[in-house]
Amino acid sequence: MMSKINPVVWWCALFLLVGSSGLCFAGPLHAQCKVDWYFGITCQLVSELLISQIKEWESMSGCSMGGQRCLYKLQSASVHFITAKHSTPFERHVDDINLRMVSCHIFTCCHVEAMSVSEAWQYIRDNGRNYCNLYNLIEGSGLTEARGFRELTSDYNCTQRSSANCTIY
Ligand SMILES: *[C@@H]1O[C@H](CO)[C@@H](O)[C@H](O)[C@H]1NC(C)=O
Ligand SMILES: *[C@@H]1O[C@H](CO)[C@@H](O)[C@H](O)[C@H]1NC(C)=O
Repeated sequence: MMSKINPVVWWCALFLLVGSSGLCFAGPLHAQCKVDWYFGITCQLVSELLISQIKEWESMSGCSMGGQRCLYKLQSASVHFITAKHSTPFERHVDDINLRMVSCHIFTCCHVEAMSVSEAWQYIRDNGRNYCNLYNLIEGSGLTEARGFRELTSDYNCTQRSSANCTIY
C-alpha cells in the first residue's frame, strides 16, 4: 500500500502542514470529483432516474463486458439527497457518492451537486474513476440527453478528469 505513494506526495504533505498546498497540485489532493450539473427538467424526475440507475447497477452483471457500470449500492434516497457507494469490480476500491438536487428557476430546472470521494485516503490518482462514477450514472440513465443539460467541472475539481475514459472506468 505505502509503495503507491510517491515521494513527491510526501513533500506535498509537508507543504500542506506549513500551509502552502497550492504549490503542489493542479488537482485535488485526494482522489475525488465534484461536478455541477444542470438539467431543464424537475428534480423529482432527475432523482427518480438517478435512483433507478443506481439500483439497476447494483449487481456485477453490468461489468461482464468490462467497464465499471456495476457494484453501485444505494445508501439513502430522497428527492433532494442521494447517497451511494461504488466499488470497482476487481480491486474493490470503494468510493462514496453524494448527489444533492436543488430546484432552480421555479422548478423548471434542477441543479445537481455531485461528489465522489475515494474512501482510501492514500489514493491521489484514480484515472478519472471518481468522475466516471458520476458521469456513468447520468449517461446510463439518459440524463445527458435531457433538455438543457450542462456540466461544470475541471481537473482542479475532479482528479484526472481530462484523461478519464468512462468506457473503462
Ligand atoms: C470547483 O470547485 C470550486 C469550489 O467548490 C468552485 O467554486 C468552482 O466553481 C469549481 N470549478 C469548476 C470549473 O467546476
Ligand atoms: C476508451 O476506451 C475504449 C476501450 O478500450 C476505447 O475503445 C476508446 O477508444 C477509448 N476512448 C478514448 C477517448 O480514448
